[in-house]
Amino acid sequence: MWRCGVVLTVVVTAALKVVVVAGLGCSASPLPVRVSASATHQERLAAAHSLLQESPLIDGHNDLAWNLRKFLHNKLHSFNLSTDLRQEKPWRRSSFSHTDLPRLRQGRVAAQFWSVYVPCEAQYMNTVQLLLEQIDVIKRMIAASSHETTLVKSTSEIEAEFGCGRVASLLGVEGGHGLGSSMGVLRALYDLGVRYVTLTHKCHTPWAECSEVDAEVEPNARGLTSYGKELILEMNRLGMMVDLSHSSSHTALDVLATTRAPVIFSHSAARALCAIERNVPDDILSSLATNGGLVMVSFYNDFLTCSRTASIDSVVAHINHIRTMAGVDHVGLGAGYDGINRTPSGLEDVSQYPELFAELLSDPSWSLQDLKKLAGLNLLRVFARVEQVREELVAEKPSEEIIPIHDIDSRWPCRYKFASLDEAAGHT
Ligand SMILES: *[C@@H]1O[C@H](CO)[C@@H](O)[C@H](O)[C@H]1NC(C)=O
Repeated sequence: MWRCGVVLTVVVTAALKVVVVAGLGCSASPLPVRVSASATHQERLAAAHSLLQESPLIDGHNDLAWNLRKFLHNKLHSFNLSTDLRQEKPWRRSSFSHTDLPRLRQGRVAAQFWSVYVPCEAQYMNTVQLLLEQIDVIKRMIAASSHETTLVKSTSEIEAEFGCGRVASLLGVEGGHGLGSSMGVLRALYDLGVRYVTLTHKCHTPWAECSEVDAEVEPNARGLTSYGKELILEMNRLGMMVDLSHSSSHTALDVLATTRAPVIFSHSAARALCAIERNVPDDILSSLATNGGLVMVSFYNDFLTCSRTASIDSVVAHINHIRTMAGVDHVGLGAGYDGINRTPSGLEDVSQYPELFAELLSDPSWSLQDLKKLAGLNLLRVFARVEQVREELVAEKPSEEIIPIHDIDSRWPCRYKFASLDEAAGHT
């Protein structure tokens, strides 16, 4: 509450009246009303804004941090997330740039998971270093705009920031190759504030199969290894969400059979509507209800329509399909802005989420409560359950499993290795 007071002062000086209203609490904002079937687009858009003022919108995946590395080599002296980047070089010319704080506010985004992405090309090399550098650059970016956003690590902090009219920032690691197959690295990442790990990107890890590699190039993996299962149990114990976007179906099924907590797909679409491995098949959608997890829908045209073009209707079709197969409690949003270069018409950047809700408000099968679930309540429920599992497992000891040496030695010979215990004892 003390921090809200400070925020309000800052905001009043900046004369952002809309935010002042949000800062005073929900009672000050107009109650969202169900618009009539004959409502105009403007009326539905106004209702969408009210809805998102009332209940938080949480997006599962944004790749801005990788653009900070590509465009700026992580030098932030001339970067300011609080400005309209459409006016700034090199952002204004990039089809990969869709995000800044003014537009996140316009889009009513209450919480953003920033992707701590490391490319597969770095696997078995400097992945852990790159990962730490990406966490560092995200933290510096947030600190430089600390009047508008804060790094948060829990559901209660997301709700508190939303109550203050601020944008909550969260960290998700993409992907598991950045763990260096190490329980110690996993735990250290949790301590740094990371709250989900995407198990794979476009490469197999030594313990999990991804959805997207040529089987002839990397024939080995098949689902999760037993060490991979240990990692899932350790994530459950820690309170780290498991993200299955990019995982193969084998891996996803193995995780669903192993995990003690609900999972997420931070940025995926439905395979029934665009038949690529990267999208989630119906059988896994159906089993999500049992697991309690959710699919956060990607806005990448190529995943939505299997073509270079898409519209708001394409996103709506995927949301509706996932709602039909998994249930309305198991669908959310994970646009993937800044990591994609083809976005649906009408959803060109992070400022346009309300347009999606305006569209869904024209469909009477979506209640206001269901729309709030889609916006963020489903993710909050999953995250809260993951936090609760952490509490339940508090007496469990940290895992001391080490990946079997034959699973990594041939691909990753250049590393400092554990000595055999006999040899080590001989040296003391
Ligand atoms: C960043 O931009 C905001 C909004 O234009 C401005 O108020 C702030 O002073 C800028 N920060 C820096 C360090 O220039």
